[in-house]
Amino acid sequence: MQTVTVDPREIREAVTMRAAIDAVRGGFVDLAAGGFEMPTRTVLRDGQFLVMSAHHRASASAMIKTLSLDFGRVPAIAGTVVWTETGRADSLVADAGTVTALRTGAAVGVATDLLAPAGAGRLTLVGAGGQAPDQVRAVHAVRPLREVTVVDTAPDRAAALAETLAPELPGTRISTAADAEAAVGDAEIVCCATPATSPLFRAAALPARVHVNAIGAFRPTMRELPDELLATGTVVVDEREAVLEESGEIRHALEAGALTEDDLVELGTALTAPEAPRGERTVFKTVGVAMQDWAIARLLADAFLP
Ligand SMILES: NC(=O)c1ccc[n+]([C@@H]2O[C@H](COP(=O)([O-])OP(=O)(O)OC[C@H]3O[C@@H](n4cnc5c(N)ncnc54)[C@H](O)[C@@H]3O)[C@@H](O)[C@H]2O)c1
Repeated sequence: MQTVTVDPREIREAVTMRAAIDAVRGGFVDLAAGGFEMPTRTVLRDGQFLVMSAHHRASASAMIKTLSLDFGRVPAIAGTVVWTETGRADSLVADAGTVTALRTGAAVGVATDLLAPAGAGRLTLVGAGGQAPDQVRAVHAVRPLREVTVVDTAPDRAAALAETLAPELPGTRISTAADAEAAVGDAEIVCCATPATSPLFRAAALPARVHVNAIGAFRPTMRELPDELLATGTVVVDEREAVLEESGEIRHALEAGALTEDDLVELGTALTAPEAPRGERTVFKTVGVAMQDWAIARLLADAFLP
């Protein structure tokens, strides 16, 4: 019996963004078909500690993630992902921060592939923290990017991200900006990755046709998107129950009457529908669900367990 421990470098070497996107896409389809037992996550100290678990019925495998979140710390996420299977004595422990960034990027890649206009190549990213590089990598994997504009209230973080990304995206023009409203004006894809508690831009600041991903808000007090965008856009979510419980912008829009629960389309359902959801403006709102971590942990188990 072995417990194999996998560090961030080993995770990166074993799982490309492309593989993560494919694994998470399959997971969303299975999730919509009832393939997982996945309780609502346990939230302690108003989101400073989270416990998430998912059991995949068909493979009798399970993933349990425990993490702490501290936005005053770099990295903000610290913790572990544990993988275990019925009938197999070996288990795997992996760094939760790296798995989380990969699987959150991967979900955005899946949604962007489904919803963004073909040929979209101009991304504005708001929030240049720990999640940001994988947001860009994921979008680039499904819509090769011509231009990336990085916005952050901390200009040094925007500049540092632009510097990190430059060697990875040699054919892409990367710039930084201070004003999110101005920077989303000609975007074809927008990614929001901040712990903001009020909308990052007005709906009127967006172009007529745009796809917006929002990963930041995971507590009812947090919001990145304005009600007007949610009212007029096509809204796809990772899991209905999870966003109703945790997403501040979805809850705010529902309370304001800008949205009804019937307007929310789950990603797994959208992936298997005869036609992708359409709309001039499309939105993917994710709070993150344990199935995504399970999907990455399965790739790691395949790569590292004896
Ligand atoms: N949906 C998911 O599955 C998922 C997964 C991981 C993290 N998250 C959430 O995503 C958010 C970002 O996580 P992170 O680890 O990158 O955090 P981080 O603290 O590393 O980075 C956040 C960045 O956003 C910037 N920022 C804050 N407010 C801003 C604003 N109004 N405009 C522009 N920039 C602003 C900060 O300066 C910082 O650089 C957090 O809220 C986190 O909880 C969601």
